[in-house]
Amino acid sequence: MAQEGTEVVEETEQMIDKMEPENLISSVDSKEMRAVVLTGFGGINKLKVTKKPMPEPQEGEVKIRVKACGLNFLDLMVRQGNIDNPPKTPLVPGFECSGIVEAMGGNTKGFEIGDRVMAFVNYNAWAEVVCTPLDLVYKIPDNMTFPEAAAFSMNFVAAYMMLFEVANLREGMSVLVHSAGGGVGQAVAQLCSTVPNVTVFGTASPFKHEAIKHSVTHLFDRNIDYVPEVKKISPEGVDIVLDCLCGENTGKGLALLKPMGTYILYGSSNMVTGETRSFFSFAKSWWQVEKVNPIKLYEENKVMAGFSFLNLLFKQGGWRQVKTAVQKLLSLYEQKKIKPIVDSLWALEEVKEAMQRIHDRGNIGKLILDVEKSPTPLMANDSTETSEAGEEDEEHEGDTDNKERIPFIQ
Ligand SMILES: NC(=O)c1ccc[n+]([C@@H]2O[C@H](COP(=O)([O-])OP(=O)(O)OC[C@H]3O[C@@H](n4cnc5c(N)ncnc54)[C@H](OP(=O)(O)O)[C@@H]3O)[C@@H](O)[C@H]2O)c1
Repeated sequence: MAQEGTEVVEETEQMIDKMEPENLISSVDSKEMRAVVLTGFGGINKLKVTKKPMPEPQEGEVKIRVKACGLNFLDLMVRQGNIDNPPKTPLVPGFECSGIVEAMGGNTKGFEIGDRVMAFVNYNAWAEVVCTPLDLVYKIPDNMTFPEAAAFSMNFVAAYMMLFEVANLREGMSVLVHSAGGGVGQAVAQLCSTVPNVTVFGTASPFKHEAIKHSVTHLFDRNIDYVPEVKKISPEGVDIVLDCLCGENTGKGLALLKPMGTYILYGSSNMVTGETRSFFSFAKSWWQVEKVNPIKLYEENKVMAGFSFLNLLFKQGGWRQVKTAVQKLLSLYEQKKIKPIVDSLWALEEVKEAMQRIHDRGNIGKLILDVEKSPTPLMANDSTETSEAGEEDEEHEGDTDNKERIPFIQ
């Protein structure tokens, strides 16, 4: 992994707001770089932009000058420490980025300085520069923008592997997906459209329905009980349930499966009920899942599966399977059959606001941290609405308490 010298965590958050835009991206020759650092598990105020020593590539690693980073729901869970076996803080979050190859360690055949790439990183992606093993780096097509590439990797690979490798999606099947307007949800919808006659049932917040109705066959308000609605349309149920809301949805999903159908648990978004970790929602979710009975699965001819991309790639050595999936997905992109949907672009310094947008369920598609973007000037915030993330008792650093940034919506 990348080697770093003595850590220089210099607080720059206040300073950055006052800097000229050119200064924000002028560290190309520097021995330091800007990065988002999570100082401890908790709310969004645990995130800061700091300077870190420039990483240098080790044997088998590629050094990438980052242009864009993907912000996933998983990053909210990491921030809260709401994941299995979290690493120690301080840490630089982020699992995926796109950019330009700047240098290479030994044994890195196949890449050249200047190559446009996207890459997975085992943390540390939200920085100006990352070093990551060659096997996790993929060249991107000339017509793919850096934000598109950063929006592509995790969402589409997870969706692809679940649909085609775990559930064996085929012509004429039906799929139920939650959070259909989100990053993974839209990747699932697009990949389903590459197979003839696939029916997609989706749940999403109502304000998203107009924007995503073309991609989902039957859309339901996330607040209603979707089970009777699906049964009205398809009394026999569905072939594949993709559940990122583990808990009571697990029982509902299994009940909706046709014989020989596959239920895949791949997330627990519903455990995020506020800005900080809630043990109550964690316990409630797992209590529901614990009730699943394998003998019932056998009697009813149903398949129950789980999928964790991060574990597959970083803990279980699944890089070859991931690489094959990436190649197939890039081919679908070049054939114009799929296209990542970028919800909005944010500067590194705007990471808190970006995360808040997900807490507030505001995104359609993927949020991107654009490393070269300057923060939008702070505006006075006259909103009296309380966000879903709720208030937090922690200190509020800086002068941002009553100010907000207007996001750059694509
Ligand atoms: N297992 C894996 O390998 C893997 C890989 C990638 C992602 N995931 C999981 O897939 C799910 C989607 O990930 P994503 O990155 O594409 O995120 P996303 O769907 O873009 O996440 C944001 C959306 O999730 C919905 N949501 C559901 N519960 C929420 C909550 N408690 N707080 C805020 N929003 C909530 C909201 O949409 P609506 O209001 O419209 O429902 C929101 O707009 C997450 O559970 C994530 O952990 C798993």
